[in-house]
Amino acid sequence: MVHLGPKKPPSRKAAKGSMADVPRDLLEQISQLETLFTVDTQKLCAIVDHFMKELEKGLSKEGGSIPMIPTWVMTMPDGKERGTYLALDMGGTNLRVCEVELLGNRDFDITQSKYHMPPEMKTGSSEQLWDYIADCLQAFLQSHHPSDAQKELSLGFTFSYPCTQTAIHNGVLQRWTKGFDIDNVEGHDVQPMLEAALKRKNVPITVTALINDTTGTMVASNYTDPETQMGVIFGTGCNAAYFDVVKNIPKLEGLVDLDPETPMAINCEWGAFDNEHVVLPRTKYDVQIDEDSPRPNQQAFEKMIAGLYLGEIHRLVMLDLHEQGFIFERKDVEKLKKPYSIDASLLSQIEEDPFENLTEVEDLFLSRFGIQTTEPERKLLRRLAELIGTRSARLSAAGVAAICKKMGIEKCHVGADGSVFNKYPHFQERGAEALADIFGWHHMPPTHYPIKVQPAEDGSGVGAALIAALTLKRMKEGLPVGMKPEFIEKLAQEHK
Ligand code: BGC
Repeated sequence: MVHLGPKKPPSRKAAKGSMADVPRDLLEQISQLETLFTVDTQKLCAIVDHFMKELEKGLSKEGGSIPMIPTWVMTMPDGKERGTYLALDMGGTNLRVCEVELLGNRDFDITQSKYHMPPEMKTGSSEQLWDYIADCLQAFLQSHHPSDAQKELSLGFTFSYPCTQTAIHNGVLQRWTKGFDIDNVEGHDVQPMLEAALKRKNVPITVTALINDTTGTMVASNYTDPETQMGVIFGTGCNAAYFDVVKNIPKLEGLVDLDPETPMAINCEWGAFDNEHVVLPRTKYDVQIDEDSPRPNQQAFEKMIAGLYLGEIHRLVMLDLHEQGFIFERKDVEKLKKPYSIDASLLSQIEEDPFENLTEVEDLFLSRFGIQTTEPERKLLRRLAELIGTRSARLSAAGVAAICKKMGIEKCHVGADGSVFNKYPHFQERGAEALADIFGWHHMPPTHYPIKVQPAEDGSGVGAALIAALTLKRMKEGLPVGMKPEFIEKLAQEHK
């Protein structure tokens, strides 16, 4: 039995270390960085207010920058779901194929294999991608089901990029995120592309549900903890899903004949929040990351928060300070010049160095970049990592708060997953403190905070399987799992 309980014990408090021996010019730089990267409570509340408006705008007919995608996931599990389903997760670095057996008592069994995704594939061709995925599914079936190789199986496909959905099993990719840039996929429905590759290779699998990792996380977490009302991912990318009701989604008006109270899970795609740069406190480093990315002017919020970018922000600040003559004087920084050569795990290591004089950071910089650092420099680097990590956690909390406020939720659990949430030191406590700042909870101990962002169940495995199960059940009962053909036609006309 696989139980994915809390993944990490609460981490210890940040060891700030003394700045007594840091020379005045570096102290001055540190203080400037603090001003640049700190999001105080007032700013945080202004961000939440704007965020709420943008969430509504995304649901309106006119639309806004946050896509707010109706996912056609219309029920939470009741815990009694049974059966065996395949789940496929196309993450950034790996492909994961799982077979999930739902046991009917809020429990499950899972068998899974991971397949390394060659990094070139992120910018390769579409055929290469779908063929590779079909090969992995085939390899999985061959090793797990050699005897009943021709039995048609249902797949929950977690494809975590913004996709417009007219039904639960399909999705037109709006745009790639997280550094992906594969031609001929944007603007196309990904389900027929995968099914065509499966057919070519004679793999008997049907895509029953195409889901976002956040929706899967919400559903999987609700399965084991019914107080869960939201799913969030803070990993390579960031995003959230929650349940709304049809009457609150004006952009569905005239396109569905559902009862106005029908629940509908929304994949927010909140990484796109503030693409127009109205409220987020962007620094010149954030601007540079955006301009040099494959999709400039997209994912403004994500680029300040998500794991893919945290190390890059740190690297750009270091290079800037070096060029201005404040750090690494007369050192060869060639290796630091490589874009994305620092990832969020390096920042975690910097923050976690237990030694007052930061000798682990010293070893890291020597071995990774061939740079001998001084102790005051390392103190600056550590403070910078803290600032970047704290900004990420506080902005993330602003998103959670905005959804809760919009929905009038005063108490709930939020299932959270992703490498930043699970592994970045103090991310969870910093996020909780930011929620306390926003909602004014400081009179109570953190264990009593009414909105708890906590480690989720496996959304792209168990969540995808559950959604496949819920979909098949709805279909059997004749309940809708997508728009009716006449409405799809109407939608197509509207977009002409
Ligand atoms: C994607 C979302 C996804 C998030 C977390 C973002 O870049 O657009 O669909 O949920 O990353 O994986």
